[in-house]
Order: sequence, then structure tokens, then C-alpha cells
Amino acid sequence: MGSCVDCVLSSHYGAHAAIVAAHTGATYQHLVMHVNENELPRPDRTIALVGLMGAGKSTIGRRLAARLDIPFVDADTEIEAAAGSTIPEIFERHGEAAFRDGERRVIARLLRGKPKVLATGGGAFMNADTRQRLKTRAITIWLRADLNLLMTRVSKRDNRPLLKQGDPRATMERLIAERYPVYATADIVIDSNEGPHEAVVDRIVESLREREAA
Ligand code: S3P
Repeated sequence: MGSCVDCVLSSHYGAHAAIVAAHTGATYQHLVMHVNENELPRPDRTIALVGLMGAGKSTIGRRLAARLDIPFVDADTEIEAAAGSTIPEIFERHGEAAFRDGERRVIARLLRGKPKVLATGGGAFMNADTRQRLKTRAITIWLRADLNLLMTRVSKRDNRPLLKQGDPRATMERLIAERYPVYATADIVIDSNEGPHEAVVDRIVESLREREAA
């Protein structure tokens, strides 16, 4: 792309690009294609990542935010800050229902500000109220991953109360069965696989670009 003379001029849109194209003999189509490849999506709404524990919502989210040059916020971290305790502590002291209530309130607050990348906890999108709010105020992206990858990733940390009771793999299988049909209603579905995180970010950016162009 760097050696393409037309692309040196490709920061100019529309009529100007057409004039440049006429001068260089390049087609307007060609120029516009390269212009769009270089342009970052400019989302007018928050981008909310949903998906199971271990799907990479925080890791990918942080990188996506850096790429788009907008803030990154992790809902779980915000819940912990608001509660002054860790998620395992909240579950242990107050129970899952109290955690879900806090999660709903914190996400509602986070959706009020300027566009950002928001990593949600795995259960957030299962709450009808939160899901509705995310769907109206954000572009929702499901990071889909398979069971083996999720298990590999979650086994590295011991901070997920839902995986501490019984057989974690069986729990994860049950959550996949319950949640994947709901996650599938997100605006965009991206496979989060074993490849480099930046490749997942590339696919998200491409999808956002396509959405903006549509
Ligand atoms: C949960 C996922 C966790 C955290 C809590 C419950 C879930 O977040 O919100 O432990 O219900 O799937 P991550 O998906 O970021 O691990």
C-alpha cells in the first residue's frame, strides 16, 4: 500500500479524491477503498464487549480502545471500586443476586458517558434490563470462544466465583448452552481464538468500519 502513488493522496475524500484520481489515472473506487482502509472507525456509541469468562473481553477491549483512541472501562473493576471489595468477596458476603444488582447499576452509569470500550462481565448481558440498555446505548460485540480455549484461559486465575463450585468445565459447558443463544443477539459476533489478540482487534475494527459504511 505504501508504494501506491494514489494512496499518498488518499487522505482526501469525495470530490477531491475524484480529481486526484483523474490526474493520476487511478479509479475513484480504488482511492476510496484505500481511504477507508486507513481510516479508523469513529463510533458514536460505546462499544460493549460481551461473552463468557475467558473470552478475552478485558484484554481485547484494552487493545481495541488503544487502537480507536477512546477510553477503556472494565465493568467488573468498576463494580469492585464501587463496592470497595473484590468480586469473590461480594459473592461471598452478599450473594450473586446483590452482585447482579450492582452490575446492572454500574453498567447503566457507564453507558451514560462518552463513547468508550466497555468490557462487561460474562453474566451482564443475561440480565434483561442490562441487555436492553446495552442494545440501545452501545454497539454490542460478542467475543465467541470455544470451551477448550475458555478453560485454558480461566484456569490461569482463581477469581471467578461461578467456577469455584463443582466441576468448572461442566459449569462452563452449562453456561455455553444457556448463554450463547443470548450472546448471539449482539450486533457483531467475532471469534476470539488462539491467535494474536491484535488479529482479533483487526477483525473488530473491520466490522466496525463495515457497519459505519453501511
Ligand atoms: C461472571 C463473569 C465475571 C464476573 C463474575 C460473574 C459470569 O466476569 O462478572 O465472576 O457470570 O459469567 P468475566 O466474564 O470478566 O470473567
